[in-house]
Amino acid sequence: MRRREFIRNAAATAGALLFRAAPAAFTQSTGAGIEVLLNEPLGTISPNIYGHFAENLSGVIYDGIWVGENSKVPNLGGIRKDLVEEMRKIHPPIVRFPGGCFADSYDWRDGIGPVEKRPRRTNFWNGGESPGSPNAHRYDPNRFGTNEFVQFCRLIGAQPYLAANLRSLPAEQFDRWIEYCNSPAGSTTLADERTAAGFKDPFNVHYWGVGNESWGCGGNFTAQEYAVEYRRFTAWAPSYPGADLSFVASGPNDNNYDWTRGFLEEVVRKGKSEIQHIYGLALHYYAWNLSRGKTTDWDKGKGDAINFDVLDWYELLRQGDAMESLIKGHWQVMAELDPEHHMKLVVDEWGPWYRPGSELTPGDQIEQLPTLRDAVFSGMTLDTFNRHPEKVGIGCCAQLVNCLNSLYLAHEDRFCVTPVGHVFAMYAAHQGGTSLRTEFSVPALHYDRDGQTTSFWGLQGSASLHGKELVITAVNPNVKDALEAQISLPGAHVRSGSATVLTSSDIHARNTFEQRQAIEPRTAPMEIKGDTPVFRFPPASVVKLTLTLA
Ligand code: AHR
Repeated sequence: MRRREFIRNAAATAGALLFRAAPAAFTQSTGAGIEVLLNEPLGTISPNIYGHFAENLSGVIYDGIWVGENSKVPNLGGIRKDLVEEMRKIHPPIVRFPGGCFADSYDWRDGIGPVEKRPRRTNFWNGGESPGSPNAHRYDPNRFGTNEFVQFCRLIGAQPYLAANLRSLPAEQFDRWIEYCNSPAGSTTLADERTAAGFKDPFNVHYWGVGNESWGCGGNFTAQEYAVEYRRFTAWAPSYPGADLSFVASGPNDNNYDWTRGFLEEVVRKGKSEIQHIYGLALHYYAWNLSRGKTTDWDKGKGDAINFDVLDWYELLRQGDAMESLIKGHWQVMAELDPEHHMKLVVDEWGPWYRPGSELTPGDQIEQLPTLRDAVFSGMTLDTFNRHPEKVGIGCCAQLVNCLNSLYLAHEDRFCVTPVGHVFAMYAAHQGGTSLRTEFSVPALHYDRDGQTTSFWGLQGSASLHGKELVITAVNPNVKDALEAQISLPGAHVRSGSATVLTSSDIHARNTFEQRQAIEPRTAPMEIKGDTPVFRFPPASVVKLTLTLA
């Protein structure tokens, strides 16, 4: 089965999966250095690459974010208080909503106006829900709509990124949604409706996704067909003072370079300047195939989130590491039609995707339980974004709560921060910094992959400068060996340094509702020899080093 078919089936009926991997042997030699080139800035790290994605899918919105004003679960006007408090710690810049595939079935008008008058609708993901799943997961009560989403964003200090329905609503409704969100108080009937709901000031939504995965659940278009729709939806969309519109086009899945090229070629058929009206092209990439080349079947190729061996660990990281070449590859194709690079890449869905079975709340569709492996994966991905600040404008981890690579898991009055959530807390320090070229001279690690000795890099990361503060993050993928590295900073004097480490002796380490602090970041000592910091990166770890320069 392919992802496109999975989603079709999930929308219509649930599926079952099975897969098991073989053990691996591994070795690694030592001797390592990290060189941060302070005079080689790569660009400013957009805070938005530390963004999130919350789809109306199973337990993400109803239970994850929204518990209701009358709930016994502590809440702020219906929004889960624990979630808000934890999110404030990670400085979330942006949240994408309401999908995902859900977006192209969603009528935004259902989610505004008096609560008691809002209709119930069949959720796009209805068919994948299990028999006992809550009604709100099957039939959208529309209790959490645009107003509540914007309120959530305000509570956590993020800006909203709305994904519009291009498959099943006319372009007129795209205009109206923008009008509802952005027209000044008193200017339009929709602005009056917003005011009546308690939101006099415009929401000033800048970022608008124009459909989602339009090659699949968002309409099954060809790249050329979608380009025509994209132009129709975006040409003369209304804009208002205070909210320039930044449109994100539905971009490629994975390494589908034909989509990127085909879409852009068709867009510019109307004139080269059309490109300038596209803020970004959405790239979706999930690491899911742990079969080591044995299958491309969406069901059979997946691994288990918590029952995995060392070989699965490396395979997942190898899959995730493809993000680097995808960014470079799509960027190169984009350059064919946009040599001045007006457009950015918007990686608004990324993360590992495992087979069902690990969910903390039984029945939550495509929920999985993140482990230390997913923390290392996430650190690696965020470092990759950091290294390409000129290319990546937005990144949204899929998805925020009760879903794939979730930062948080929640059910009723229970809540925990996952290892992925801890990585976002550690990496928040990079936001807005100047990314610096950083060379990792580190011996590769080796492991046995089905009888063949295979190598993988031994340490990788990124660095950013914030005035006199230098932040270096890195992941050590080696499950067995620590790696000591000298950090050279040519031309700089180091005053002080501190380290934060996320690791465990168990590569399966994870937090649950019962054991909420099984894995947490800890501070670690850091040696500074003259102007050379030296740090020992523990096996299977995510590390942040903060250095104060003279
Ligand atoms: O994140 C889950 C789903 O994966 C999204 O709805 C869709 O865009 C993607 O295929």
